[in-house]
This record gives sequence, C-alpha cells and structure tokens, in this order.
Amino acid sequence: MNLRNKKILITGGAGFIGSHVVRFMVKKYPGYEIYNLDALTYAGNLANLKDIENNPNYHFIKGDIRDRKLIDRIFEEFGFTHIIHLAAESHVDRSIENPSAFVETNVMGTVHLLDAALKHWNNKDGHLFYHVSTDEVYGSLGPTGKFKENTPYDPHSPYSASKAASDHFVRAYYHTYNLPTVISNCSNNYGPYQFPEKLIPLIINNILHKNPLPVYGDGSNIRDWLYVEDHVKAIDLIFHRGKSGETYNIGGDNEWRNIDLVEKLCEITDELLGRQPAGQSKKLIRFVKDRAGHDWRYAIDNSKLKSELGWQPEMDFETGLRKTVKWYLNNHEWLQNVTSGKYREYYDKMYKNRLA
Ligand code: NAD
Ligand code: DAU
Repeated sequence: MNLRNKKILITGGAGFIGSHVVRFMVKKYPGYEIYNLDALTYAGNLANLKDIENNPNYHFIKGDIRDRKLIDRIFEEFGFTHIIHLAAESHVDRSIENPSAFVETNVMGTVHLLDAALKHWNNKDGHLFYHVSTDEVYGSLGPTGKFKENTPYDPHSPYSASKAASDHFVRAYYHTYNLPTVISNCSNNYGPYQFPEKLIPLIINNILHKNPLPVYGDGSNIRDWLYVEDHVKAIDLIFHRGKSGETYNIGGDNEWRNIDLVEKLCEITDELLGRQPAGQSKKLIRFVKDRAGHDWRYAIDNSKLKSELGWQPEMDFETGLRKTVKWYLNNHEWLQNVTSGKYREYYDKMYKNRLA
C-alpha cells in the first residue's frame, strides 16, 4: 500500500467518531493529506481537534454535503483520491422529531458525494469510497442471535431508514458504475468527545449535576458497546485492506442492558467524584416514557472482520468507561460549552414532559 499521495476527504470529521478518525489518520500517516469537510452542525465542534489543527497534513473545509455544487467544486479544487464518509445526522430521537433532515443529509448528501467521486475518478484505479454506517440498519434482535453482514435490512427508525438508504446507494454505485466502495456497519460507540444527547455522556453529565437520569421504558433494551478508538482501528484496517464491494460488521462482543449500564455509570462517576457512598446517584434514575419504535437488542457478529483482517477490540469495558467518565470530568469546559445555548432547548423539549 502506497503510504503517500493520498488525498483523503473525511466528512463529518468534527463530530464524535469523525474527530477520532481524523486525529488517528493525521498522526499515523503523515504522508497523507487529510481534508476534513464538516458543516459544523450542533454536533460538530472544532474544539474536538484542537491538538492537531496545526498539523501540516490536516486541512479543514467548512461545508455542507447537502450542497451538490460545493462538493463538485472541492473535488475539482483538491483532487481527493479517497473518501471516508462519516457526516450524518446521527441521533435516533432527533430523527423521530424531524425525519426530513435525515433524508437530506444522510441520503442526499451521500448521493452527492457518490456522484462527485464517480465524475472525478472516472473509473480510474487507486480510489476508494468508504461509507461508515450503523448496525441499526438490520433492525432489532430477540434474546438470541447476532447481526451478520448478510442479515436482511429491516430499519425501524427514520435515522436507520436513512442510513439503510445510503448503504443501498453506495452498493448500487459499486454494482452499476464500478465505483470502488466499502461499507462498515458498527455497533454503539462510546468515548471522549461524544455529544451529550447520547446515553453515556448524557448520564455522566446528569450525574455530575445531580439531575434525574432518564431511562427509556423498563431499561431492558440491550446495546453492544465499543470503545471509539477500537472502531477507528477497524476503519483503518478496512480502509487499507478491505475488499472493494464488501461490507464489514464491527462490534465489541459487549452487550449491556441500559439499566445495568446506567447503574454502572453511577458507581464509577460517584467514585471518581469522591461521592460517598459510591453508587448513591442511582437514586436519580427515572424510568420514563419509551422511545417510539425502540429497538430492543443489537448485537454484532464480528467474525468476518476478525478472521479476514485480524481485528480485535482492545479496550475492556470497565477500563473504557472509567477513561470516558474521567475525560468528561476533566473536560468541564468542553462539556459546559456544548451543553449551553441550544442544548438546553433540546433537552427541555425531549425530557421535560418525560421527567415531569
Ligand atoms: P456526530 O453526530 O457526533 O457527528 C456528525 C458530524 O457530521 C458532525 O461533525 C456534523 O457537524 C457533521 N454533519 C452533519 N450534517 C452535515 C452535513 N449536512 N454536511 C457536512 N457535515 C455534516 O456523529 P457520530 O456519532 O460521530 O457518527 C458518525 C458516523 O458514524 C455517522 O455516519 C453515524 O451514522 C455512524 N455511526 C455512529 C455510531 C455511534 O455509535 N455514534 C455507530 C455506528 C455508526
Ligand atoms: O448502534 C449504533 C447506533 O448507536 C448509531 O448508529 C447511532 O448514531 C447512535 O446514536 C447509537 O444509537 P442508539 O439509539 O442506540 O444510542 P443512544 O445513545 O441514543 O441510546 C442508547 C440506548 O439508551 C437506547 O436503547 C436508548 C436508551 N436511552 C437513550 C437516551 C438518550 C435511554 O434510555 N435514555 C436516554 O436518555
């Protein structure tokens, strides 16, 4: 693999997973030029990339993937050779409130990028369109079984429907136009820089401020959690060694019921805050009105990625959670900044009635 002369467009690089991907690529491959295209929505934050913003191989472009002309123009100007596409509206609860925004960014935005790649790469070798997707496209599991790469798509939320549609378009461009593509579908990520609308950082923030801890339904829903840096290492492997036209599932073999996870976060956060006895924040837990269409269980069969590319999740959950809680407690200003302003409006709209 040529470690030079790659001009990689990473979309959504100012978001949670994207910022970890950008940092990793910029540091590990100084010979690559990394271009981060991000619209800086509520979820995008350049503070996530402060430590690498002056690296000579890092470039930021503020722009929106819904803007077809802009995408075409920057392809022309910078001559990207590869794309790692992460930009998306990513929160299921927001998709229930406003599905159209998810169609515009996740479906149309992806098609704009595919069209630009098709036009500018012109069927020449040495290119790749890597589409980062989610396990939610497969729907919901009962108590047994796991999602495999050939599990039929069965998305339930507007978010997962929009990601499923974008996956289908990526495959369609591979089959119809021979565009070199690869897709990965990953389970729930956690770690530093995750916007506190998602379960783990929302719960940490609420424990910190002694606010109620909203658990949807009876808390029995199950998610398969993966430390974000393990996801990034999988993306690195798939980007360099994945086979064009293929799909790879990524997951940590780490299933937790929401209620057990929230209780665990109470114990760890209390301990790190020096609150005695640790675990007292459990009294803040409130079972609230369930998410509409709430998928019950996700679990990933990651055997293809392990056997074909030699990937292994490295972070054990206890260590990863402690690291994550410590990061939020040590980065008070970051947390304060992202939870002030518009976040308050969002939080009140989503939780006021539920918690009343
Ligand atoms: P995020 O919401 O934290 O970040 C999304 C980023 O995309 C933000 O920086 C935002 O500004 C940018 N963005 C949004 N709309 C845009 C637009 N129209 N044009 C340009 N930029 C735009 O999301 P995340 O959790 O980091 O997820 C990143 C990707 O990974 C998404 O495609 C998501 O579907 C996928 N994914 C996420 C998880 C997870 O657990 N978070 C798991 C599997 C897959
Ligand atoms: O599985 C991958 C997906 O994981 C990604 O594609 C999505 O972008 C990402 O947001 C995530 O989706 P989830 O809906 O699983 O994540 P969320 O953190 O929103 O919720 C996790 C679980 O916790 C889910 O069962 C709903 C529940 N929950 C969530 C919130 C925000 C609560 O019980 N209370 C809450 O306040």
